[in-house]
Amino acid sequence: MPELVRYTRRDDVALITIDNPPVNALSPGVPESLQAAIRQAEADGEVKAIVLIGAGSTFIAGADIREFGKIVSGERPRLSLLPFLQTIEDSSKPVVAAIHGQALGGGLETAMSAHYRVIAPGAQVGQPEVKLGLIPGAGGTQRLPRLAGVIKALEMCAAGEPVKAHDAVAAGIADRIIEGDLLDGALTFAREIASAPPPKTRDREEKLRNALPMVFDFAREQARKKGRGMRAPLAAIDAVQAATQMSFEDGCRREAELFNECLYSNESKALIHAFFAERAVSKIPGISKETKTFEIRRAAVIGAGTMGGGITMTYANAGIPVIVKETAQDALDRGMNTIRKNYGATVAKGRLSQEAMDHRLSLITPQLTYDGFENADIIVEAVFENLEVKKEVFRELDKIAKPECVLASNTSSLNIDEIASATTRPQMVIGNHFFSPANVMKLLEIVRGKATGKEAIATSMALGKKLGKVTVLAGNCHGFIGNRMVGPYVREAQFLVEEGASVEQVNDALYNFGMAMGPLAMDDLAGLDVGWAIRKEFERHQKPGVRKPLVADLLYEQGRFGQKTGRGWSKYDANRKPSADAETAELIEKTARQAGIERRNVPDQEIIDRCIYSLVNEGARILEEGIALRAGDIDITYIYGYGFPAWRGGPMFYADTVGLKNVLDRIREFERKHGAEFWSPAPLLIRLAEEGRTFEQFDIEKEAAVLTS
Ligand code: 3HC
Ligand code: NAI
Repeated sequence: MPELVRYTRRDDVALITIDNPPVNALSPGVPESLQAAIRQAEADGEVKAIVLIGAGSTFIAGADIREFGKIVSGERPRLSLLPFLQTIEDSSKPVVAAIHGQALGGGLETAMSAHYRVIAPGAQVGQPEVKLGLIPGAGGTQRLPRLAGVIKALEMCAAGEPVKAHDAVAAGIADRIIEGDLLDGALTFAREIASAPPPKTRDREEKLRNALPMVFDFAREQARKKGRGMRAPLAAIDAVQAATQMSFEDGCRREAELFNECLYSNESKALIHAFFAERAVSKIPGISKETKTFEIRRAAVIGAGTMGGGITMTYANAGIPVIVKETAQDALDRGMNTIRKNYGATVAKGRLSQEAMDHRLSLITPQLTYDGFENADIIVEAVFENLEVKKEVFRELDKIAKPECVLASNTSSLNIDEIASATTRPQMVIGNHFFSPANVMKLLEIVRGKATGKEAIATSMALGKKLGKVTVLAGNCHGFIGNRMVGPYVREAQFLVEEGASVEQVNDALYNFGMAMGPLAMDDLAGLDVGWAIRKEFERHQKPGVRKPLVADLLYEQGRFGQKTGRGWSKYDANRKPSADAETAELIEKTARQAGIERRNVPDQEIIDRCIYSLVNEGARILEEGIALRAGDIDITYIYGYGFPAWRGGPMFYADTVGLKNVLDRIREFERKHGAEFWSPAPLLIRLAEEGRTFEQFDIEKEAAVLTS
């Protein structure tokens, strides 16, 4: 077994190195070894001071997150880190924590238990536990306000954002920036302070005094807004407030109670699931580090419309030179003006320097020709959503692009195999489905056709990371993962208003569930013209006699396309603020009456169940067909692409928390009431419910044979 903690000596300074790759998490064995090393240094008569440092690329990224699930399931007892860290603070010899990379969560709590902290200029410190539905659980809420003051501690513990090295020093969290070699600097610092009695953070009370109650009220108000529906940020605030009201020991006891409450919550289970799911998406069976990838040094985008413009910015933002091509000068000018306006707005908000904006613009070459396309390493097509138009573009690209150029389509629903068939190199053709606005939204859905080569997939996955995206691999089907599921979701919302719920009730029910916006608000944002075009394109698949939403088409025919025309399901003012539209309500009622749809009071819970379970049922089919590799991939798609609340873990994880048997019973109830066409339960859902398993436990690789047999 490699040593998790190493004890060495540098003359009169003990050097304790935590070495638990990849991020030096405080896994079982680490706190115990750390405690033993401190005791060894104390017993060593030659040692005057102690330096605590992390091996590899970071200090300590916190408690081992994988342990939390084991504790909650009863597999392992909860071992508080607090007493181990207390040994550091109680050391009679001064301990200097030397921070590089990250000191997060239990990592910062370890550093704050030391008597001094020195920090590399590029390092960050933070208490990100709330992002896992937790609060600091090893004294962080008690020590941080003592070092940085109540306001800073509230910010860091309730929002979870890390703080850069210079800010950490300014706030009093760290004592000195070490330019150059961190260990050398830490050893020098340790010798400077070796003879002074070690100061204990827990004894520092001055920054706790005079904390006004309104500070906590304000923090709670902010937390309720930013972490809508979440408990952990409020618990973190309660714990920091306890630091101002109680002794250190009692404050730690209060922190432990609140930590435990959070640890056993669905919120924490969901966020921990999302943490690991986000990291699992990049793991693709059959693709490894050895799979060849093409280096993307130059890109080209076709179409400077809504998506093409955003994709062009995404490349420029990542420092990749990009050509953007249009068919006409006015369309090109419009596209470039939007790009300039978007960058300008970011500069005006102070989030980008003018210099950086100029640099990004200099990387973009707008043009009407294919000049230079022969040098592009990737070409992304973002023209109209029409198969023939796209095939024509790919036919052209096949003639111009170099053989190792990735040919990507941003189609949101069309068949990648059909598009690839227009070329002589289908192995290089792939979907790169960005979400609108492409330069902002974190999700990138990579769509693999049946001929897409491993190299094109591996290149797109690696490129996604470089572009700052969370990249999910999907199989080829109508709408892929995200849009295939959103179809039934919006359909149910439309049926519900025809059955008697108001537009506002449907939107509010799902907003209160935690969605970033309600489904009809989303429809208005995407454009009712877009939904109409999709319905027309797929009209031929519509079975006669099967119910279809009626009002959406009527709104479209009246030129009410949603936000872009100021009217759709709702009315919008000049600032795009929505309000109820009495005419829409009247139109819905009249249409429903004429169609013989029974109008009734629809409970909020039915709205939530019908919309969310329509996602879940379609998600189950997507999973069993292998369109998504894992339930977690679907969850990540919905969290980053569709505003699903991360604290519910994504639609599939949410269904797991409700219990698949309960979900299935409810779906069967809907099937009886609304017909098998929409509600026949997915076979995978039935099977998992019967076996008492969860979507999370389903492994397509292992179970593919069972499914296909
Ligand atoms: N525990 C267990 N595994 C962890 C971990 C942790 N705290 N932090 C990261 N990992 C794992 C990841 O799952 C990943 O594993 P994989 O290679 O098998 O997929 C690997 O380490 C590398 O992580 P990333 O891919 O995220 O690497 P990056 O370099 O992009 O980011 C990081 C590094 C900024 C440290 C990021 O991983 C991170 O934010 N980690 C979580 C930090 C955190 O939330 N800490 C608080 C934990 S809770 C706590 O401390 C409670 C305490 O108060 C008692
Ligand atoms: P858009 O209509 O805003 O832009 C399309 C642009 O392509 C137009 O400016 C048009 O002039 C240009 N164009 C057409 N043929 C061309 C050619 N041969 N060469 C160069 N330029 C050409 O459309 P939008 O919304 O940007 O959609 C583009 C693609 O992105 C579609 O496939 C769409 O399904 C997909 N998409 C759209 C999303 C959205 O929210 N708008 C989200 C995700 C994907």
